[in-house]
Amino acid sequence: MYLRKLKGMGVRNLLPLELEFNPKINLFLGDNGAGKSNLLEAIYFLATSRSFRTNQDQEMIQSTAPGRYYSDKVPVAADHQPANLPDYQPGIYLSGEVSAVDGDSKIEILYQPPRKEAKINGKPLSRLIDLIGHLRVVLFSVEDMAVIKGGPHLRRRFMDISISQTDPVYLNDLQRYIRILKQRNRLLGEIRDRIEQEDLLDTFDESLVKTGNALINKRRSMVSEINPLVKGIYQEIGGSQKEVQLEYKPGVEEDDFLNRLRAKRREEIRRGVSLVGPHRDEIAFTLDGMNARAFASEGEARTIAICLRLAGLEYIYQQSGEYPLLLLDDVFSELDEHRKQYLINSLQADVQTFITTADEHVLKDLPLANSSVFRVEKGEVVSGDRKVAK
Ligand SMILES: Nc1ncnc2c1ncn2[C@@H]1O[C@H](COP(=O)(O)OP(=O)(O)OP(=O)(O)O)[C@@H](O)[C@H]1O
Ligand SMILES: [Mg+2]
Repeated sequence: MYLRKLKGMGVRNLLPLELEFNPKINLFLGDNGAGKSNLLEAIYFLATSRSFRTNQDQEMIQSTAPGRYYSDKVPVAADHQPANLPDYQPGIYLSGEVSAVDGDSKIEILYQPPRKEAKINGKPLSRLIDLIGHLRVVLFSVEDMAVIKGGPHLRRRFMDISISQTDPVYLNDLQRYIRILKQRNRLLGEIRDRIEQEDLLDTFDESLVKTGNALINKRRSMVSEINPLVKGIYQEIGGSQKEVQLEYKPGVEEDDFLNRLRAKRREEIRRGVSLVGPHRDEIAFTLDGMNARAFASEGEARTIAICLRLAGLEYIYQQSGEYPLLLLDDVFSELDEHRKQYLINSLQADVQTFITTADEHVLKDLPLANSSVFRVEKGEVVSGDRKVAK
């Protein structure tokens, strides 16, 4: 699938924008702080109703001195036309035209805290979560380079994002699991403080196990599917004979879940936190049999991180029958020449790719026939020419 057009206003430092993208490669060039990552964030927000940089959505809303980018009369909600909105309120409005195998669609999202609403082809969605899947994206940023050596939540997030985009049932289960976990943790604390009775835990345990097992199941099969992909890509990109292996390490095995909850109950009450379940899952990476988290070099760990992302892209293709968008935020500056070349060569003709960089030289390596160059300057995005930096 690909994003044909993007309209937006109110996103961080970006001026109101109206852009038409190349179905293949889109390169965003500009100085540090110009607004390149903000543009990718806008696309990600349109796809997921979330930011990839913050949990605090409000941070994304443009903070401006009044009248700096908008005249007082520019309504954020101009296209959206929800009832009862004054002409101007701080907020974000994005609309995108998407081409996919099953046809074209228009996605709109309006965020004016506390309301956040989305429409598909003009029809409001009753649940925001139903937005997922209409525009699929795989994001790779400098922070994602840490996925191998950083905390296990990064690896869980990778699984969640990859599976959710092609499996609405998983996304539902995931949200439910998080909700149950929160409630259960609160209850554990209340039992410890003798505000609530211990037997209330039984029903929570059952739903935790039921929902948790659904997650474990899907994650297990996802990891087993991407394992050979990562291994193959690593051998090509790493130019090395070393072998990468991934192994899913669930926090608990499905048929043992309830027993372990029983066994840990006293400790859980004492600590006021749930100690058993897929929120403790891990993916173990090995490089030639050695634990990559502990033993891989920085360069090797980054290379595995790239391979993981590309495998995630392939996974979504296998699951959904079409490639998602690939958003590469500033990753080229972190790679040596060989890996940069491989990454560029592996940009597949049928993957719409968005690349940000402050380094003009990336231009010279791109297949220019298939790419559009945009200049980003102080929040303004303009279609540029395709001149090559020598
Ligand atoms: N809510 C906001 N309102 C207005 N401006 C914001 C907001 N949040 C961030 N900014 C500004 O946006 C700019 C950063 O934009 P962005 O992160 O997209 O830069 P970039 O082009 O990706 O730069 P780099 O090359 O350093 O990665 C900063 O100048 C920052 O002050
Ligand atoms: Mg940036």
